[in-house]
Amino acid sequence: MMDHNDQCVLVTGGAGFIGSHTVDLLLAYGYSVRVLDNFSTGRRVNLPTHEQLDVVRGDIRSQDDVFSAMQGVTHCLHLAAQVSVPRSVEDPYDSATHNILGALNVMQAAAQAKVTKLVYASSAAVYGAPAQLPLTEASCLQPLSPYGLEKWVDERYATLLNSLHGLPSLGLRYFNVYGPRQDPQSPYAGVVARFIDRLLADQAPIVFGDGQQSRDFIYVGDVARANLAALFSEQCGICNVATGQRINLLELIDLLNQFTGCSLPTQHLPAKAEDIQHSYGDTQRLAEWLSLTPQWTLSEGLSELVQEYRQTIANETGYPLTANA
Ligand SMILES: NC(=O)c1ccc[n+]([C@@H]2O[C@H](COP(=O)([O-])OP(=O)(O)OC[C@H]3O[C@@H](n4cnc5c(N)ncnc54)[C@H](O)[C@@H]3O)[C@@H](O)[C@H]2O)c1
Repeated sequence: MMDHNDQCVLVTGGAGFIGSHTVDLLLAYGYSVRVLDNFSTGRRVNLPTHEQLDVVRGDIRSQDDVFSAMQGVTHCLHLAAQVSVPRSVEDPYDSATHNILGALNVMQAAAQAKVTKLVYASSAAVYGAPAQLPLTEASCLQPLSPYGLEKWVDERYATLLNSLHGLPSLGLRYFNVYGPRQDPQSPYAGVVARFIDRLLADQAPIVFGDGQQSRDFIYVGDVARANLAALFSEQCGICNVATGQRINLLELIDLLNQFTGCSLPTQHLPAKAEDIQHSYGDTQRLAEWLSLTPQWTLSEGLSELVQEYRQTIANETGYPLTANA
């Protein structure tokens, strides 16, 4: 195994979905890792027990928590956030305390600690309704929610702190991330987790609108690879993390039906006004800057995820799920 334990990476939000997969990868490469998480949506069981892993309970809204977690750190991956778009609409003030003030605490502490690199989670939500596709990093930004606007503000702060304090940073605009450990019970869960959860419970998947809306779904393992590449590259600025492919929701359900052995008719509810019709990202910069092309096809990722769900259900109930259960 490679040994990088002289380098310590602080991962805020490391107990969450994307964070825990990235922590696994960092540990596998021999890095020392510190996680700062308030466990609001993240879970301790997502993380291993490992001699090179230090898990700290704390909140990015607290300067004390952030500044003390940043001590001795060489790199920082900032993922902690209020991640729900609807919640940001209902309570934009609270959302901004996490996603703007919390992010600013992390960036300021990283600048003061003179970390080698700060990588932070932005989102495809900064683009809003696309004027043209695919979305490139130069596309027009018109966020449709406080959440999208907050991520954009973070990008502006990161650029400013780079020129004010020389803080090297790279903001990653993740598209629709799916994979194990995404909590399907959460009202904010991604559509893939929600569809699988319902199909395996013998319930029809629910689609808002006609299901023709398309998205760029990227497997969490590829996002973890992008995070690692970003942390140890010299590139600064903004980069899409996407596959460059899109699939509509009805096609996604067809694929999931194949992997779960279900064939329940999809239930349609009225379209949501804030739902954009189509989105997918240009991946040229991801390939050029981070030498990265996604490894998992959607079929591979979904098949692995369905197997993992079946295993979890079997472990929890003591009964294996048959193909049609
Ligand atoms: N999952 C996606 O499809 C997606 C897409 C675009 C952007 N993102 C961004 O990626 C990042 C990670 O998202 P995720 O999907 O892993 O979500 P997640 O909810 O699983 O992870 C977020 C983590 O942050 C922690 N957290 C929340 N508020 C905190 C606070 N104030 N202080 C400390 N910890 C706090 C949570 O407990 C959790 O562990 C977020 O910044 C999110 O906005 C995710």
